[in-house]
Amino acid sequence: MLAADKRILEFSEVYGVRLTSMDQYVQVCRTTDIPDPGKQVFEVAGRFVVVFRVEGQFYALEDACSHDGNPLGDGRLHGFEIVCPRHGARFDIRTGQALCMPAVRPTPAYDVKVENDHVFVSTKPKQ
Ligand code: FES
Repeated sequence: MLAADKRILEFSEVYGVRLTSMDQYVQVCRTTDIPDPGKQVFEVAGRFVVVFRVEGQFYALEDACSHDGNPLGDGRLHGFEIVCPRHGARFDIRTGQALCMPAVRPTPAYDVKVENDHVFVSTKPKQ
């Protein structure tokens, strides 16, 4: 059993949340653990993901700039944009879309859901 699957099973048993094997989400924190606006980096199924909270909503991007891999979690958050601290590329945290050079490709975005004040991140990026 993968560590992520074990955490899902443990969480569902402790909190009584029904998660089936079709659910590919991992609990990362409580909603109150991230300020609004704010961000925090978590490991999700072997990848680092930065989770953002803006205007009460949660979003997640892979913690790697599509330009040259710098962690985006170290960047500055401006509204719904994260600025890569290395060369200044900006990304839309809602979609991962690159908004300016030098990044030309999106950074993978992940679905996030909130249940009972707990934040879950999908183990697979959006298509
Ligand atoms: S590594 Fe992010 S802009 Fe270059």
